[in-house]
Amino acid sequence: MAGDKPNNTTNEAGNPVSSDEYSLSVGQDGPIVMHDHYLMEQMAAFNREMIPDRQPHAKGSGAFGHFEVTHDVSQYTKANFLQKGAKTDVVIRFSTVAGESGSPDTWRDPRGFSVKFYTEEGNFDMVGNNTPVFFVRDPMKFQHFIHSQKRRADNGLRDHDMQWDFWTLAPESAHQVTWLMGDRGIPATWRHMNGYSSHAYMWVNAEGERFWVKYHFKTDQGIKCMTQEQADEMAGTDADYHRRDLFEAIKRGDYPTWTLKMQIMPFDDAKTYRINPFDLTKVWPHEDYPTIEVGKLTLNENPTDFHSQIEQAAFEPNNMVPGTGLSPDKMLLARSISYADAHRARLGVNYKHIPVNTPKSPVHSYAQGGAMRIRHSTDPVYTPNSKGGPVANSERYPEDAVWSTDGQFVRAAYTLRPDDDDWSQPGALVRDVMDDAQRERLVSNVVGHLSGGVTEPVLERAFEYWRNVDPDIGKRIEQGVRSQ
Ligand code: NDP
Ligand code: HEM
Repeated sequence: MAGDKPNNTTNEAGNPVSSDEYSLSVGQDGPIVMHDHYLMEQMAAFNREMIPDRQPHAKGSGAFGHFEVTHDVSQYTKANFLQKGAKTDVVIRFSTVAGESGSPDTWRDPRGFSVKFYTEEGNFDMVGNNTPVFFVRDPMKFQHFIHSQKRRADNGLRDHDMQWDFWTLAPESAHQVTWLMGDRGIPATWRHMNGYSSHAYMWVNAEGERFWVKYHFKTDQGIKCMTQEQADEMAGTDADYHRRDLFEAIKRGDYPTWTLKMQIMPFDDAKTYRINPFDLTKVWPHEDYPTIEVGKLTLNENPTDFHSQIEQAAFEPNNMVPGTGLSPDKMLLARSISYADAHRARLGVNYKHIPVNTPKSPVHSYAQGGAMRIRHSTDPVYTPNSKGGPVANSERYPEDAVWSTDGQFVRAAYTLRPDDDDWSQPGALVRDVMDDAQRERLVSNVVGHLSGGVTEPVLERAFEYWRNVDPDIGKRIEQGVRSQ
């Protein structure tokens, strides 16, 4: 009778097995036999359980929930899931950047903040971080940047000298590094941090009017951070602290929420704004572009199978829906091809068939074949056809999230605008946003980091870097390191 005793164990083909404990052998004391395919299946499956880590952002976890639009933003976007009252299922993944899948959650690092919205017009992914800016502004530098934060070739160790060598030779990193070395570089939990798109994206309204936008998911739990000492201690006692905290909060019904606020820039402002609005190392100051409220993101459901629902989740900034789009930010444009490529390498060409990645809206593509394909292809398998296959409709879905540009192909930095220097915004963060106690912790964190193996001439460059951010902070950091 179903339910009154456990199900009989089966192999993966569903055949009942007679023992969970003993391999098949020649007599009780004899050798095991090779045709014990049940034993073989267990050993073979075990040897193949691990899949490659994500290259960056390997350690993380996530949950499910929904996003509900509370304010009318139809004047800025026609996106279905952004209309007032719309409620959309989401999956979210939080992560650290540099550590491997077993690394401590409380290492100082930006945190990933990836949200997949299962909209009626397919998946929309916002693959952001808990910081509003990034270390570099050209995708050519991204791979080198990540290498400098990970492990050396010779001893396989992480190396502060390598990190500061890169950062000080890439002064555009100063804003993100200042942010990282401040309090927010170690959130108390994932529930107590904000998420930002960081990049500018596009919104398009029903009239075809375009806007540049930045997404800010502001935590409703309040910002809470850990000091370096608290984080170091936690790394030794519970390396999975952030993963555990999120799971337990949701399990006890303490559902975390974030309020989505947007910065919206009229399309033509971008041409003349004093800062390049597509430079990822800069924020749009709030006094120029205040935020407006859009809706609420709630996480209320834990995964039941970490591997299939979180480890195999595949986020990609190119997943856009009508009414939304990319921007001329070179980093974002590179990301719009990098992620799908990473997923094909890590999960296989049909990674969108893994349920967590499958849209909840119908898919009518002409894609076919490939390893592990699950969705059935149907005839006709080509287009154009006269057999009733899907047809793209440019009147209903115009290619309208676009911009115009011209110029000769070059390999060069962005053209500089009047306020496009690398030091003003980190300087403003230190002087105008942080208070004395935060500045003191910033100095102490940087002194600790620089004292952990940074050598000349990198060290001297680091002092100059901080003097450029703020002369007083630079002086205090140099004094702190020299007096060690
Ligand atoms: P505002 O005073 O309007 O905004 C300051 C922002 O800084 C707030 O969003 C606040 O976030 C955030 N903040 C507060 N404390 C810290 C901290 N210790 N570390 C990092 N961020 C913090 O000023 P502006 O818009 O003119 O920006 C000034 C500087 O603030 C920028 O150069 C940038 O470094 C930083 N900032 C700006 C953001 C933006 O989008 N304009 C976003 C985040 C930071 P909260 O409200 O969550 O406390
Ligand atoms: C993960 C590339 C910049 C946020 C990844 C991955 C790659 C990648 C290959 C692993 C994906 C996977 O295997 O699932 C790049 C490139 C960048 C860039 C080429 C710049 C040119 C950024 C920026 C942000 C960001 C600027 C944030 C604003 C993330 C997040 C993840 C991630 C959150 C983890 C996604 C998840 O949770 O699965 N990135 N990245 N990246 N990246 Fe980037």
